[in-house]
Amino acid sequence: MSDDTIVAAHDKAAAGTPDTHAQYRILPLVLLFVFSGFIFYAGAYLGRYSGRFSGEIFDERQVPTSGQPVVAAIDPLVLGKRQYALACVTCHMPNGQGVPNLYPPLAGADWVTGSEERLIAIVVHGLKGPITVNGNVYSAAAMPAFGQVPGGGYNWSDERIAAVLTYIRQEWGNEAGPITAQQVAAVRTAHPDRKEWTEPELLALP
Ligand code: HEC
Repeated sequence: MSDDTIVAAHDKAAAGTPDTHAQYRILPLVLLFVFSGFIFYAGAYLGRYSGRFSGEIFDERQVPTSGQPVVAAIDPLVLGKRQYALACVTCHMPNGQGVPNLYPPLAGADWVTGSEERLIAIVVHGLKGPITVNGNVYSAAAMPAFGQVPGGGYNWSDERIAAVLTYIRQEWGNEAGPITAQQVAAVRTAHPDRKEWTEPELLALP
């Protein structure tokens, strides 16, 4: 075999089927970069937005909102009704009628729908001694102090008292306007060392 025939044989072989497997191919490399990019993006996304999968942050049942914080203002009547059911109902009863000869009624009582200052004073500081309500005299028990006053066991905030008073002034057929926390604060601070009121003392208030 001469050199010529060897070269010719190689030429012939090369012109036939090219060795495609030996060639450098770009597609797998492109795919590798594309998917690496996806994985990197996903990792960065989770790092940024997953909140470390904390149960306190992540809530899959969360309803999407506009992004504005929703501050639900509690309706004083709803709050007041709840306070009444918690604290006043045991004595003044669910129907506001009280208990004959023991706990006076709130329904239809002038003390509730009349002077705001007297009403606030009664609930903030308490009340003892005989008091006439709807024509009957009550003196068997005392009305506890609910306000943030020395010796007052309940220590209710002005807002809470305002809410419950607003509630009793329009429940059971009562029709009187709302009481604000500012009004409660004013009565409370005007009589700092006040113990339970008596009826004559209340009547001296406006
Ligand atoms: C432990 C029982 C008791 C609880 C609890 C109680 N009260 Fe009274 N309340 C009385 C008694 C007793 C009187 C009458 C006191 C007296 O005879 O001097 C009274 C009187 C009143 C009066 C004036 C008289 C009238 O009937 O209009 C108002 C107003 C009143 N209470 C509101 C409330 C509110 C509001 C609450 C809840 C925040 C409350 N009370 C919780 C026992 C209670």
